Amino acid sequence: MSEFTGNHILSVNQFDRDAIDKIFSVAASMQPYAKRQKRTTVLDGAILGNLFFEPSTRTRVSFGTAFNLLGGEVRETTGMQSSALAKGESLYDTARVLSGYSDIIAMRHPSAGSVSEFAEGSRVPVINGGDGANEHPTQALLDLFTIKRELEYNGKGVDGLHIAMIGDLRYGRTVHSLSKLLCLYKNIHFTLISPQELAMPDYIIDIIENAGHRLTITEQLEGNMDADICYQTRIQEERFPSQEEANKYRGRFRLNQAIYTRHFQSKTVIMHPLPRDSRMEANELDNDLNLNPNLAIFRQTDNGVLVRMALFALTLGVEDLVSKYERDVIWYSQKRSEIHG
Ligand code: CP
Repeated sequence: MSEFTGNHILSVNQFDRDAIDKIFSVAASMQPYAKRQKRTTVLDGAILGNLFFEPSTRTRVSFGTAFNLLGGEVRETTGMQSSALAKGESLYDTARVLSGYSDIIAMRHPSAGSVSEFAEGSRVPVINGGDGANEHPTQALLDLFTIKRELEYNGKGVDGLHIAMIGDLRYGRTVHSLSKLLCLYKNIHFTLISPQELAMPDYIIDIIENAGHRLTITEQLEGNMDADICYQTRIQEERFPSQEEANKYRGRFRLNQAIYTRHFQSKTVIMHPLPRDSRMEANELDNDLNLNPNLAIFRQTDNGVLVRMALFALTLGVEDLVSKYERDVIWYSQKRSEIHG
């Protein structure tokens, strides 16, 4: 049992550095299970309610995978139209009902604050899988876990980090949550690159400035940026008032190998919360970067499983019992031989 047991995970605001260290230490201990070297049935009999009222590939499936890897079962609802919310049922009532069917709930919803509202009616812990343009705490945790690992690989730590965040910083909830988490560390240099219309919200700027970090704000990539991390984002077209408005910005922040070489160091780690918009006109993160060893986007997605396993184990109070319920894996798995993503 720990401070996490039985509690919701709704915002990164609830974490301090000790909590993050604990989550990351449990996440690292999940590696043998994610790599299929061992299996565990520690959550045998437990049910995850995986409620996604907005499109998702990674978050939804990795929550489910993480729960299955701990031995639990997953019940899923996707899309607003296939739930009784479409008939006018409130989030409170939905929470009262679905928390009767589950031991823990992961939820995504298009409205800011909706997951917290849902949690008020829930009888079981709720984990925020993204609420509108507000927050995406588990993505921020897996991003920070990835940053830490990638920097360790380059002989550095998070304190003193220089991160360039690029693109739609207004609607991109992942950069909001990640910025808040990074503010817990020392001497971070944030370079925020976006058109003014898509700038980081003022309340996040205030948090960065009040924590005494260095801030550079610009509208385009300029010179060699000396950044440790280049964090590219997608234009969040679903949050714009119209498609026409979103189209004005598509392709504006292209990153390909030539642009990367011009503006970043040879070791700058390239991150993106994904999905990357791979349509021709988006020019977001070109395929010619796929073989660049600094492209960490698929290491981020793999790390998402570890972090979400850790959050389930901690929230359900079994983090010290995982290996006690360990068993051998008897099937062939390519994952066992993968070294670095
Ligand atoms: N990063 C992320 O939230 O991806 P999905 O929308 O696919 O879940």
